[in-house]
Amino acid sequence: MAKLELAVIFGGVSSEHEVSLMSATSIIENLSKEKYNIHMVGITKDGRWLLYRGDPSALADGSWEKDEQNVPAFLSPDSSVHGLLVLHQDGAQVLRLDAVFPALHGKNGEDGTIQGLFQLSGIPYVGCDTFSSAICMDKAVTHTLLSAANVEQAHYLWFYADRFDAAPDTIRNKIKARLDFPVFVKPCNAGSSVGVSRVDRFEDLDEAIRKASREDKKIIVEEGIKGQEVECAVLGNRDATASIVGEIGASAEFYDYDDKYINGTSQLYIPARIPDEAAEKVRETAVRVYRLLGCSGLARVDFFVTAEDHRVVLNEINTLPGFTSISMYPKLWMSMGLTYGELLDRLVEFALQAAGKLQCLD
Ligand SMILES: Nc1ncnc2c1ncn2[C@@H]1O[C@H](COP(=O)(O)OP(=O)(O)O)[C@@H](O)[C@H]1O
Ligand SMILES: [Mg+2]
Repeated sequence: MAKLELAVIFGGVSSEHEVSLMSATSIIENLSKEKYNIHMVGITKDGRWLLYRGDPSALADGSWEKDEQNVPAFLSPDSSVHGLLVLHQDGAQVLRLDAVFPALHGKNGEDGTIQGLFQLSGIPYVGCDTFSSAICMDKAVTHTLLSAANVEQAHYLWFYADRFDAAPDTIRNKIKARLDFPVFVKPCNAGSSVGVSRVDRFEDLDEAIRKASREDKKIIVEEGIKGQEVECAVLGNRDATASIVGEIGASAEFYDYDDKYINGTSQLYIPARIPDEAAEKVRETAVRVYRLLGCSGLARVDFFVTAEDHRVVLNEINTLPGFTSISMYPKLWMSMGLTYGELLDRLVEFALQAAGKLQCLD
């Protein structure tokens, strides 16, 4: 079978640029070189698109950006092009693609923006479409939709940051009246715990709100849930399946950015140390919300299991979860017998299937 021309897109303008570089490195290293011709497309922090032809080991520290052979290249929204326009000095060349694998996280990568471009380009792409990506990116929208579907979540309220600037007492008093402390203050659109604070005292609310508002114009405040943090990997299109459940044993006060990517001291437990009924409820709820919100390809659905009575409380849905070989999403599938490379094949197959172009990669 002819090799598939596959672009892996990494970097991006989001606060998770560095995380994306780590995910992309693992993805590129593990994609089968027999099945795919891999084209590495990096997006710099200021939004420039470059076709990179160097060694993937230069991604993680950002040095790929300085490679002299980089050429400006970007996806064409013209579906008859069906690929990248590569801007060589002596003119533009078309690099036709069979599929795109976005190894991006957060803003512009996981929120439906770039998925809109994929859709226009007519090229099959890994992961959720514009609509479901946009819903899952915004914690206030996800919470609102899922409370209507009776999915248990932490008590919450959300507001625009400019409303807090204009009427801080109104917002402070609403938080005090409706939620028990500690609360978690978060930007509605971010990720990797950037801008997230745990607030134990009413007096410390303002500082946390200011921090969150540096990341997004919308803020969500949630009641703190006491319990274990567990995650479930969902894979597939309309017939998606759930993995076994994994647990994060955070080493810090909560699972913050340093704990996720810098210290490496948080523990992953696979399977999660929770009762069987709770694990079953997690898996069932994960697939239900995935289908409800129209997800496809993959998503990691995160929950808390309460300490006292093992209730299953949904936290969030990540449509492009961390994807290094030590990240929870691939580890959950690996613990069920798939290799990392097979998981990548499945994701490309689901992308082709969603676009009506299924090809078996075996
Ligand atoms: N309601 C909550 N109760 C307890 N811990 C929370 C709550 N919300 C967030 N956290 C903690 O903060 C971390 C980051 O919050 P999360 O909503 O997952 O944002 P992100 O999208 O940045 O990952 C979680 O992994 C968890 O440790
Ligand atoms: Mg999270």
